[in-house]
Amino acid sequence: MEFLTIDTWPPASLTDYRPQLETGNVLYFPTTPFSFPAESQDFLRSLDFAGKAIHKNIAYRPASDRVTGFEGTPEQQQHLLAVMRDYSRTVIAFTASLLPEYAAAWKLDYASFRPLEESSRDLPVNKRNDLLHTDAFPSRPTHGDLILRVFTNIHPSKTRNWITTDPFPALAEKYARAAGLDRIAANTWSEPAARVLHSIGLPVVPRSPYDRFMLHFHEYLKRNTDFQQNCPKYRFDFPPGSTWLTFTDVLPHSVHSGQHALEQTFIISKSSLSRAENAPVRILERLYGKPLVAA
Ligand code: SIN
Ligand code: FE
Repeated sequence: MEFLTIDTWPPASLTDYRPQLETGNVLYFPTTPFSFPAESQDFLRSLDFAGKAIHKNIAYRPASDRVTGFEGTPEQQQHLLAVMRDYSRTVIAFTASLLPEYAAAWKLDYASFRPLEESSRDLPVNKRNDLLHTDAFPSRPTHGDLILRVFTNIHPSKTRNWITTDPFPALAEKYARAAGLDRIAANTWSEPAARVLHSIGLPVVPRSPYDRFMLHFHEYLKRNTDFQQNCPKYRFDFPPGSTWLTFTDVLPHSVHSGQHALEQTFIISKSSLSRAENAPVRILERLYGKPLVAA
């Protein structure tokens, strides 16, 4: 995989970067290609000192225009909502200009502010971000669509340090069977059963076989010490003021240190990929030999 640097934005002529992203590369902008006011950055960084007011991450939900994960005064809450809304709208506009084909069919997911120093977090294995993993959201199955995330390091001086490894095709080839692809996909009762429970109001998430596998794979990779220790590793330290984006379900990634990152997530329709056969769901279906999501 590669970290591809884009030095100037907007460019003289547009490049279709979809093939680069779909094959598990990172697009890296040394200078953030959209504007986000210094006062907003100062405000976000100052939230750290508000004692226990922050729960892990602060999330902004574009669809409902709400912020979660922070308890402060009503004035602080209002200010935070305005700052996160502004960040989210700005990064959405930028990403739409970078990737118009995706924007035509994407779904907006959450934006987040990540206020805590990553090197000293004490989390259960499944939540640790310093172990290599592909992303999958327990509460938001994608049904074969892809997870695109745009990150910005707003720390005034510290880099955000990532390690990645070979992208999904190589990973699936090596580990999907061992992780239980056949067993998980052969379970045909769990999705319809979950639909029934969901329809009568129980907090159950109906998941396609693909989504069940991806959720399991996330944890499988984190718990596989041979993989964690011996896989090829590509390291990149993202400097303060830089922005980068990648499909976090195609590219296994981990963060080792760094503080104060902003991030916006997009769910990219598999129908808008430059090459449909690149989608993780299609790679897994080729291995399994049958569909893993409804047509
Ligand atoms: C992750 O998605 O695993 C974390 C990446 C980051 O916060 O830099
Ligand atoms: Fe992740």
